[in-house]
Amino acid sequence: MDMSKNVLITGASSGIGEAAARYLTEQHYNVILVARNEERLKKLVNELGENARYYIYDFKNLDRIEDIFIYCKECNLMLDGLVHCAGYSNNLPVKEMEPDILEDMIDVHANSYLMLGKYMARKEYSNRGASIVGMSSMSVIIQKRGMAAYTGAKTLINTYTTIMAKEFVRREIRVNSIMPAYVNTPMLQEMKIEHENAMGMIEPEYVAYLIEYLLSDKAKYITGAHIPMSSGMLGDVRHIKNGG
Ligand SMILES: NC(=O)c1ccc[n+]([C@@H]2O[C@H](COP(=O)([O-])OP(=O)(O)OC[C@H]3O[C@@H](n4cnc5c(N)ncnc54)[C@H](OP(=O)(O)O)[C@@H]3O)[C@@H](O)[C@H]2O)c1
Repeated sequence: MDMSKNVLITGASSGIGEAAARYLTEQHYNVILVARNEERLKKLVNELGENARYYIYDFKNLDRIEDIFIYCKECNLMLDGLVHCAGYSNNLPVKEMEPDILEDMIDVHANSYLMLGKYMARKEYSNRGASIVGMSSMSVIIQKRGMAAYTGAKTLINTYTTIMAKEFVRREIRVNSIMPAYVNTPMLQEMKIEHENAMGMIEPEYVAYLIEYLLSDKAKYITGAHIPMSSGMLGDVRHIKNGG
């Protein structure tokens, strides 16, 4: 009998989600990859082999999220994990904000996370003791101008994490979020900004290691946590002359 864990990864066509897909298959998990770009997903699944499959979905639409879970069920995959990495940045000052920009940002990052959690919590789709990981951001702690929509969405991810952790405790489904500082992915490369990680740019596989830990039984007592991965981006301003 195959005892591998089955994990749904959103935002798996690039960056952190892709790194998680690669590391988890290396660690003998079965993965179901979700994103919009079919070409990239197909290529990745071919590379990862028989323990990977994909499903195309756009999280701007919250209405058909259950279809992803129905697909997993049709494949006879009861889920042990959900990793929500789908996201993007669109930094604008508040003066330039528009309702549709705000709405899409909150839907793709946060509301879809909650709706994924809703189905993940159901007995028909997941095993007892499953683990949910949301991708929040250090921007929740170090809040910046121009990042209202993004940071608002990431704050909501932490809030949803806390409340889902409380509501899902009866089936021992754990819910945690990760708050990385700057990670070396296409999203960040497109922004063309300088990173502020005092301990260096985070390579995406290091986020994948923490994801795997949270999915594993080694983390079985950890739930409701929002875990910073700061790489030294601690909002420090030097107040002491000559060092300190
Ligand atoms: N990079 C950083 O410095 C950093 C720091 C903290 C947190 N994060 C968070 O980490 C997560 C992953 O980011 P990343 O840096 O890995 O970015 P990335 O390389 O651009 O990957 C983003 C992923 O999200 C998917 N996605 C975007 N919009 C989507 C939509 N409407 N529906 C479905 N999938 C969608 C993309 O796939 P398709 O285009 O194929 O749909 C892609 O797979 C995001 O939530 C991001 O906010 C990143």
